[in-house]
Amino acid sequence: MQELTERILQFIEQHGDVDTLDLVPVFGEDHQKIVGAVKSIESTVADVINTTQATRKTWELTEEGKYILANGSHEAAIYEAVPEQGIAQAELMKSSPNAKVGFSKAMSNGWIMMDKSGGAPVIKRKVTEIKDLVRDHLKAVASGRDELPDNVKAEYKKRKILTETVIKSFVLSKGLQFSTSLTKLETDLTVEMLASGIWKDLKFKPYNFDALGVPPERGQLHPLMKVRSEFRQIFLEMGFSEMPTNNFVESSFWNFDALYVPQQHPARDQQDTFFVSNPQLSHKFPLSLLDAVKESHESGTDGSIGYRYKWKLEEAQKNVLRTHTTGVSARMLYKIAHQAGGFKPVKYFSIDKVFRNETLDATHLAEFHQVEGVVADYGITLGDLIGTFNAFFNKLGITELEYKPTFNPYTEPSMEIFCFHPGLERWIEVGNSGVFRPEMLRPLGVPVGVNVIAWGLSLERPTMIKYGLNNIRDLIGPKVDLKMVQEGPICRMNR
Ligand code: PHE
Repeated sequence: MQELTERILQFIEQHGDVDTLDLVPVFGEDHQKIVGAVKSIESTVADVINTTQATRKTWELTEEGKYILANGSHEAAIYEAVPEQGIAQAELMKSSPNAKVGFSKAMSNGWIMMDKSGGAPVIKRKVTEIKDLVRDHLKAVASGRDELPDNVKAEYKKRKILTETVIKSFVLSKGLQFSTSLTKLETDLTVEMLASGIWKDLKFKPYNFDALGVPPERGQLHPLMKVRSEFRQIFLEMGFSEMPTNNFVESSFWNFDALYVPQQHPARDQQDTFFVSNPQLSHKFPLSLLDAVKESHESGTDGSIGYRYKWKLEEAQKNVLRTHTTGVSARMLYKIAHQAGGFKPVKYFSIDKVFRNETLDATHLAEFHQVEGVVADYGITLGDLIGTFNAFFNKLGITELEYKPTFNPYTEPSMEIFCFHPGLERWIEVGNSGVFRPEMLRPLGVPVGVNVIAWGLSLERPTMIKYGLNNIRDLIGPKVDLKMVQEGPICRMNR
């Protein structure tokens, strides 16, 4: 084998690229053995040769073809079986199992003849010597010399002594480390080599200064999580504290009723909200709160006349995947209104997942993160809400803000927040906000004189803007390549 490997290398040195199949006739070795030698070269020293797979149609001997290669063609066997004085045809036909084919071929080749003069046919030689061309042809094919004309190959195929097969082979060419001998190249010069002086006789692998370094293993936060920590940092700097949002399932009561969302409101439809089937209903509610919310919906509070419909507990009991985190804000307001020592002003925020039964498209998923803020204090106004936004967005590097009146069941006035995106050169909506209505606050126990300003933003939208993504499915979901996180920028310089 050693020898074959070096013969292959020498061949490449002298003749350049070669297909392993073409080496078969050169070395008179079989293809498998040559491929084995190639594998052995590759595993001994890297990059000595390059190999690329190739396929080729070749002709091979069938079992019968191999028999002919070893024993001669059937027609030759017939010729040999005919003695000088001739032989009765019936006798000749017994000479071999292939006699029938052999006979007709030998006849048509003009090697033998039939003499009927004595009655029963006698077969005699017609020529004194023959050349067994079929066997010679098969010999050529077997040794990899494929010079037979197509019609001859086709005929042999019909005679079932040749078949056409597809063979996989390798095209060999010189590799970066090409050499005709297979001594492993040293990669390091060691103290021992210097001390013993053997370095003089060793062959060293040349340095490859163009090699790329191995990228360092690294982990990173998902862009959403990075932007979340930025938002969180800003809230914390502004003196906000974080609300506990660790419940994706919320009762309709906290998600809607406590927010003065009427029970017939379209948002409470299956089309917009995911209802939970197990457990379908919630049971634990503060009783006095239930009564107060019912009254607020039915007949109002604090001068309001309410919605004037019959409020049903069963509707409020239905569990949903929360459609916003504003239910959490409501629960927190209820808590601080009922805490020992009574109500104290607060600034709260949260950033967590919410769920909506949306038609999915480039900017909508059925779940997203809501950034929620609430400020509750005596005598604060819409001006405070705008001032808070200015401070908040300034910290994000966004200075141009506009507000547009809108409607929420739980806020009055309500404003959509728009910011100017210099990259996109247009105004985009980033959130929704307002001053909570007395119909919502009084039942929760928030004292008269206390105003609550609140807002909700999505985390995804600013993240997509910051990372230049225009399809939300490039940010989250099954189509996101993990590389997006691994190869994302370590930091962004956009402020
Ligand atoms: N809950 C609102 C939304 O989902 C956001 C909001 C929160 C609006 C608080 C006003 C007050 O869009």
